[in-house]
Amino acid sequence: MAAAKARTLYRCQACGHEESRWHGRCAGCGEWNSLVEEVAVRGAAAARGRVGAAAAGAPGSGPVPVTEAAEEAPAGARLATGLGELDRVLGGGLVSGSLVLLGGEPGVGKSTLLCQMLHGVAERSGGAVLYASGEESVAQVGMRARRVGARAASLSLMAETSLERILAEAERAAPAVLAIDSVQTIHTAELSSIPGSIGQVRECAARLMGFAKGRGIATVLVGHVTKDGHIAGPKTLEHMVDVVLQFEGDGAGPYRIARAAKNRFGSTQEVGVFEMRSDGLSEVLSPSQLFLAERPEGAPGSVVVASADGSRPILVEVQALVAPPSAGIGRRTAAGVDTSRVSLLLAVLAQRAGCDVLQSDVFVNLAGGARVSEPAVDLGVALAIASAARRRPIDPRTVVFGEVGLAGEVRSVALPEVRLAEAVKLGFTRCVLPRQNRARLADDCGLELVPVAHLGAALEVL
Ligand code: TYD
Ligand code: MG
Repeated sequence: MAAAKARTLYRCQACGHEESRWHGRCAGCGEWNSLVEEVAVRGAAAARGRVGAAAAGAPGSGPVPVTEAAEEAPAGARLATGLGELDRVLGGGLVSGSLVLLGGEPGVGKSTLLCQMLHGVAERSGGAVLYASGEESVAQVGMRARRVGARAASLSLMAETSLERILAEAERAAPAVLAIDSVQTIHTAELSSIPGSIGQVRECAARLMGFAKGRGIATVLVGHVTKDGHIAGPKTLEHMVDVVLQFEGDGAGPYRIARAAKNRFGSTQEVGVFEMRSDGLSEVLSPSQLFLAERPEGAPGSVVVASADGSRPILVEVQALVAPPSAGIGRRTAAGVDTSRVSLLLAVLAQRAGCDVLQSDVFVNLAGGARVSEPAVDLGVALAIASAARRRPIDPRTVVFGEVGLAGEVRSVALPEVRLAEAVKLGFTRCVLPRQNRARLADDCGLELVPVAHLGAALEVL
């Protein structure tokens, strides 16, 4: 008989771990009842090997001297999407032959972003771009495309769930970019498990990766994020792809943030900010303005922090409220910053700077749904709490940044020039900053610089 002999294996749906027999508990991740039977046809691995062997330097084509490999640096093969916010997160555009996973919750706008970026690439490069949707009909994708003004002549749509048929079409059309929306809806005939299962998602992604690398086609896979925040088949897919792009929204608001959780061709520090409008996603070029728009100037407990997410500065307002304890002991609630960091800063304020609010309820919030994870926000959080506790407003034209250590010392942070430039642009006149940072800055930066070495000194200044 010509057909390959089927082999059965059991794969953990949580982590992808394989077993030849069923077990109640996965030996890979300890999850109960997660092993599911899958039929793998023998030809699959062989087929994968064949696909990759096309181009020199592609997987399976043998070794090349390191000097020649360097010649083929991917820098020259970037495809700009025309969306500056996205291109920056990608590290300058899509890299030919790379595999990008675009993840996000249902409804956040993944298909919209995809449609706009594919249009951008098609229009700028003039090369063929193929958008295969397994979720929607060509008419539905077409309606969205019209809505967002995506009408580049070389952008083609197909509604298809079969990986083999998508690959055949991509083979024929040889597009510069191939996009699949979503990886959970396509299936390969080589596995009998259902679309969306770990086995299918992983096999399809592996085949697409071989195809992308072999042909130099930039491939974008859309992936739905599951409840716990992972992209289905998290452990397996995230390791496989070159770039993991996360598209996030803040609740019901119109703002969306794109960030790279992984990027083999660029920084993972950059964020891109978009606004969802009735005609698609539009870039938010000055997120600081957005976050500062409704600031209550002159109110105690409010201070503006110059943060820098990657190389991009963002000014955000830190708000604090100090209230008598509602229960016997003081509670802390924080949004946009780490709650344990707030507790630490409260202890430092009490022990090192003579501002004791440990018995009070303390609420800290970054206005506008902003989120900052870098320590440069410390000084702002501490000052906002102190301002709220003493009911003394902080001058609204003052911006602050700096990390606060356990001894109450104010420590230097990266990129002071970038932070100051943004503050100048938005009309701030004074900056309280770490002394170490001040020492290395020029005098004529357009702001009055107030260097501080200790949290106590910063409290006095304000
Ligand atoms: P969509 O891209 O379909 O989300 P996903 O692919 O992540 O599931 O878009 C989701 C929402 O965006 C949808 O509820 C409608 C809204 N939307 C707009 O507000 N404006 C637009 O121009 C488009 C295309 C969608
Ligand atoms: Mg979609």
